Amino acid sequence: MADTRKSVLITGCTPGSIGHALVLEFHQRGLRVFATARRLEVLDDLRAKGIDTLALDVANDESVRAAAARVRELTGGKLDILVNNAGRTYTNPVLDADVSEVEALFAANLFGAMRMVKEFGTMVIAAKGKIVNNGSIAGTIPMPFRSAYGASKAALFSWGDSLRVEMAPFGVQVVNLATGPVLTTMVVNDHVGSGPPGSLYASVFPTVDKVTSDGGKRAMPASQWAKATVSAVLKTNSPRWFWKGTGASIVWFLSTFIPRGLMQTISSSMWGLNKLAQELKKKA
Ligand SMILES: NC(=O)c1ccc[n+]([C@@H]2O[C@H](COP(=O)([O-])OP(=O)(O)OC[C@H]3O[C@@H](n4cnc5c(N)ncnc54)[C@H](OP(=O)(O)O)[C@@H]3O)[C@@H](O)[C@H]2O)c1
Repeated sequence: MADTRKSVLITGCTPGSIGHALVLEFHQRGLRVFATARRLEVLDDLRAKGIDTLALDVANDESVRAAAARVRELTGGKLDILVNNAGRTYTNPVLDADVSEVEALFAANLFGAMRMVKEFGTMVIAAKGKIVNNGSIAGTIPMPFRSAYGASKAALFSWGDSLRVEMAPFGVQVVNLATGPVLTTMVVNDHVGSGPPGSLYASVFPTVDKVTSDGGKRAMPASQWAKATVSAVLKTNSPRWFWKGTGASIVWFLSTFIPRGLMQTISSSMWGLNKLAQELKKKA
């Protein structure tokens, strides 16, 4: 008998991640879920629950094409929801950044989503479905030491906003997720320590480390984030932007109503850069 459930494919579903929590939530709501990850073996627990699993590296053309061909075969060429969730982070001052790391970051966070839409887009059109892009609040406000990560997410948002206009004639909705801190492997492993040797920002790193780890401690449980996000995505008319995660509403307010100059002052004080300015003044 043909499977009549609505279908959803999610990228980056390793245990301990947002993707994994999304899989469980969509599955619980009765959708047919295609859970994907670079390493198929990490999806064993999901496969044991009867969930379809596929290997998929969003930074690799062949891998994305092979996954698209398999989903086309399994669903008869329709996909109701595509969630571009896979991503990575990078924390470093601009002066200390390794540009090849930044390129790898963009390959996953931005070009990966582009590649997915190129290969899966016609299946989403066939279902008059939805494309969901997991961005970050870091893409909406100045965030020192997260500039490359924030830039990749700001680019994803901008691309998503244009994609929404291109997809509207086909009845496809596009949702940008402005996600705040959520407790996942990414957050648990996000330590900046004392920074790169010889950094001009060495005196600031203890503050950066503290702000990062305090943010991690307050991060929203992934299941809570997934429940709210899936509810928003499954609405007949989904929001164009959905803000969720610790402090996401506050960042929405700041990025919507507070002038850029004031935002810069807040950011500078939060990350200890105003103190660095004072130190440098004293030395001069
Ligand atoms: N957690 C937060 O506080 C937070 C806040 C804002 C936005 N986000 C965004 O939410 C998304 C999920 O993050 P998370 O917190 O769940 O991080 P995570 O625990 O590190 O999980 C990231 C997932 O993306 C996968 N991935 C990375 N590069 C990939 C690639 N080239 N192809 C396919 N999969 C790839 C990882 O696979 P491997 O296991 O193979 O590395 C993993 O499954 C990311 O886009 C992140 O930027 C997270």
